[in-house]
Amino acid sequence: MNKMWKTARLSIALVIIFALVGCGASASELTDDSETSQTANNEGAIESRDDADTETESTTGQESTDAGNNKGNDTLVVYFSRTGEQYKVGVIDKGNTAIVAEMISEQIGADLWEVIPVEDIYPTDSYNNLIDVAKKEQNDNTRPAYEGEVPDLSQYSTIFIGAPVWWGDWPMIMYTFFENNREGLAGKTLIPFSTHEGSGLSGFDKKLSSACPNSMVGQGLAIRGNDCQNDQDSVRSSVKEWLVGLGY
Ligand SMILES: Cc1cc2nc3c(=O)[nH]c(=O)nc-3n(C[C@H](O)[C@H](O)[C@H](O)COP(=O)(O)O)c2cc1C
Repeated sequence: MNKMWKTARLSIALVIIFALVGCGASASELTDDSETSQTANNEGAIESRDDADTETESTTGQESTDAGNNKGNDTLVVYFSRTGEQYKVGVIDKGNTAIVAEMISEQIGADLWEVIPVEDIYPTDSYNNLIDVAKKEQNDNTRPAYEGEVPDLSQYSTIFIGAPVWWGDWPMIMYTFFENNREGLAGKTLIPFSTHEGSGLSGFDKKLSSACPNSMVGQGLAIRGNDCQNDQDSVRSSVKEWLVGLGY
């Protein structure tokens, strides 16, 4: 009974936090990040579409493409994302951040690398269980291990790095990635992106800068997790505009 009540209280608290942050009632820094992170250059977007080779977007009459370009051939997209039961979207087969990461990669022809935990530490059966595990990791400031070899970072000049906002921060496993690869990331441009349900970029850029002080951090993008599942056209167009604004 106690445990049920604790879980219920945690869920209620999280819903309230997301709602407050989403309404800008608190954590103004996070809200500001969210707003500034999504500015993009519409004119540029149309120019870039002119360069492209397929499909026509009927609303503008401009040539456009979903096939992307190859401007990202020295670019890597690193991401962490979860499937299973997620906030607002129910049980999902592909994580919200994974969807954005793939869009970036497809759009500019960048390589993709997923941060996958060595052990199956994150529950997929219950969102409430997942938030408990994540909260504990954050409180304990743990550095969960990830599996596999990170690609040779020397071949990339720019690295997009994305994750869901977990309790107002990068998931702890991302700090493992930053710290393990601080040297390889030095001198590179790092571009953060988040998916979230109200917290925006949640200071991902500043936290990334602190974790990797010898890297440059570019303008990030924050996308609502719910949109990744239910409004992919608008997500794709936000991603496109952002990439064009970054020079892709
Ligand atoms: C453990 C946990 C903590 C979360 N904390 C926040 C938060 O602080 N702010 C927020 O806006 N969303 C929060 N969310 C919602 C996720 O950021 C959002 O659902 C995200 O799109 C999930 O991405 P994924 O499917 O790639 O894992 C949290 C979700 C989980 C599972």
